[in-house]
Amino acid sequence: MNNASKIEFHDLHTTRDEFLSDVINGLRQRPASIPPKYFYDAKGSKLFDAITELAEYYPTRSEIALLKQHADEIAGEVGTGSLLVEPGGGSCAKVHILLKGLKPCAYVPMDISKDHLQMAAQELAAQFPWLEIHAACTDFTREMKMPPSAPQGTKVAFFPGSSIGNFDPAGAVAFLQSIATLVGPGGYLLIGVDLKKDKKILEAAYDDAAGVTAQFNLNLLARINRELGGNFDLAQWQHLALYNEALGRIEMHLRSRCQQTVKIGSESFDFAQDETIHSENSYKYSVEEFNALATQAGFVSQQVWVDDKQLFSIHLFRVKP
Ligand SMILES: C[S@@+](CC[C@H](N)C(=O)[O-])C[C@H]1O[C@@H](n2cnc3c(N)ncnc32)[C@H](O)[C@@H]1O
Repeated sequence: MNNASKIEFHDLHTTRDEFLSDVINGLRQRPASIPPKYFYDAKGSKLFDAITELAEYYPTRSEIALLKQHADEIAGEVGTGSLLVEPGGGSCAKVHILLKGLKPCAYVPMDISKDHLQMAAQELAAQFPWLEIHAACTDFTREMKMPPSAPQGTKVAFFPGSSIGNFDPAGAVAFLQSIATLVGPGGYLLIGVDLKKDKKILEAAYDDAAGVTAQFNLNLLARINRELGGNFDLAQWQHLALYNEALGRIEMHLRSRCQQTVKIGSESFDFAQDETIHSENSYKYSVEEFNALATQAGFVSQQVWVDDKQLFSIHLFRVKP
């Protein structure tokens, strides 16, 4: 069997109409907001990968170190031959660490960023010729389903990168419930969760000196210009990242540098100077806080690993068999 015969690509991507209506509805609200899933076109995905290389961005380094350190224990708990699914797999970089120990019967990366996912799946297939891959371009905030052609096996969901922090706590419970339904009784969830910590470390991670996170945030406006015919003047918008200690979340905003009117097709939106568009939240949780959310969603804690500097956590949960 060659690689090409082992990769299947399922395309259920969001349409331009959905993007347009989400942006228009979000910009009509006060405060204005846009769902963070729209960061990830091909350019946004590349910028996110560049963020993961930054000195200030500790989450990726910490999570990779934890996964390497505990890969054998994870494999010992979960066993081999499972069906491994990764919502928001992005570049599918972290799963490499798990593949040798888990030897899954198939790997199902799901991501909204279609071209990036396709490339990542092809690269993975070249590196792991024995691996069966069913890549699905899909929006995980809607119903998550296994591609019908995926083989049977104990289901293991892998959700690294603290992407769970992009939901508010109630949304996180609802999303975790949808993962519990996806993996079913006896299924597992291996999830990376960023920990609460010093505000300075957090804010630097989301507002790096080289301005890569600023480019990532501003790409949202550039994408609206490219795909929806918007006329955002990027020079008139500033990236902001602030830790809201009361809510335990990093907030990313785009701040209007002046009073301005922006057009998207036939719609126009007025912004006062300093008014913001809220583009992302990234909630941080203690181990106990996150355990409580996952328990509400129907998971039972199996293991949790935290690095020596207490920067990041990886939890292994299971749905009761
Ligand atoms: C913060 S990045 C994490 C990437 C990777 N999992 C990691 O740990 O480095 C979030 C990933 O989720 C994807 N994503 C964001 N919102 C999504 C959605 N609603 N449905 C599917 N994928 C989504 C993005 O395209 C991106 O690859």
